[in-house]
Amino acid sequence: MCKLYVISGVTGMTGNELVQQILIDKECKDHIIGFDNFYASSIETVKDFLDDRRFDFLEYDLNNKQQMDDVEKRILAMKSQYDEIIYINCAAVVHTEHFYHVYETFETNVTGMNEFLQQAIRVGAQKFINCSTSEVYSMESWNENGGVREDSYLLISHAEHSQRTSYAVGKLLTEFFMKDAVDTGKIKGCSIRFANVYSKNERYPKHIIPFIINSLKDNGKVTLLENSRKNRRTFLNNYDSCSAVLALANTDTALDGSIYNVATDEEITIIALAELCAAKMGIKNPVIDFKGFRASDPERRLLSTEKIRARTSWKPVVNLDKGLDECIENYLKEAAK
Ligand SMILES: NC(=O)c1ccc[n+]([C@@H]2O[C@H](COP(=O)([O-])OP(=O)(O)OC[C@H]3O[C@@H](n4cnc5c(N)ncnc54)[C@H](O)[C@@H]3O)[C@@H](O)[C@H]2O)c1
Repeated sequence: MCKLYVISGVTGMTGNELVQQILIDKECKDHIIGFDNFYASSIETVKDFLDDRRFDFLEYDLNNKQQMDDVEKRILAMKSQYDEIIYINCAAVVHTEHFYHVYETFETNVTGMNEFLQQAIRVGAQKFINCSTSEVYSMESWNENGGVREDSYLLISHAEHSQRTSYAVGKLLTEFFMKDAVDTGKIKGCSIRFANVYSKNERYPKHIIPFIINSLKDNGKVTLLENSRKNRRTFLNNYDSCSAVLALANTDTALDGSIYNVATDEEITIIALAELCAAKMGIKNPVIDFKGFRASDPERRLLSTEKIRARTSWKPVVNLDKGLDECIENYLKEAAK
């Protein structure tokens, strides 16, 4: 079966790894049309694929109607050559420092997502994968019974607490768009709630893993938020987040409009994470101090992944130990350039 993938935000952390996983088999005849406006990434991440005839890259903005019309025309012109068209929406205003930008978040994450979904329906795409977020669990992101489930009720922090949650609330609304499109028989699809994805190629120095490694490398010490005195997290390698996207996209029975948690259950305190990175970097007794506070940041984020594991063959394969080794090696190599 020959597939045509249409990926928004393709040069981002998830998008570029999807390109690698889809095109890794040189015999595979699938094709990708991917676009990005470089809001939070650059062409660097897909440079190895720019000469691959199976990959078309467009420097386009999800919120630009003309550019999206052009994507639509291209798909309509090519669709007869493919058995299946799969849309994957990765474009989003995502990072910690952007979470507070309510208007940008609404335009790209909510309106942009819905326009992209409507395009998928218009061109007759079979499937749409909506990247949502575990941030929707907000203040109750964990429980002691194997983690929060997709059908757990939410305890949401809101505008009385922090603008930060506008990101989660926007993503939550996209899950309703997705469900409605499937329930009304327009397309198959699902939403995915990822938790704390990281990558050895991560660009955002404020994200916790690159932040810790870079601070230790530059200063031999790390200054964490006051929240980190208590906070614990699980971390999902972007190889595993993308293999989950593809596992779902390739399991028709899973595409019922519902939601899937995608995470690991390897929980670690942020302090232990800093100590582990230091040990791996050969730094004995690292100085760890605390400054600043982030409102509406839950102490833990622990997700049950029972549903995706029951419905697909997905399971994470990169544990934190291996993932951190790769990050440290790569960041130090980049820094030495
Ligand atoms: N990274 C995480 O921990 C995490 C966790 C939960 C959910 N997610 C979700 O997964 C998806 C992918 O996130 P990611 O980690 O790859 O983030 P990312 O920022 O690396 O990738 C998003 C990409 O979208 C692009 N983009 C932003 N606005 C755009 C626009 N208007 N037009 C075109 N491109 C645009 C950015 O330039 C970037 O390349 C997002 O929907 C995000 O909300 C990520």
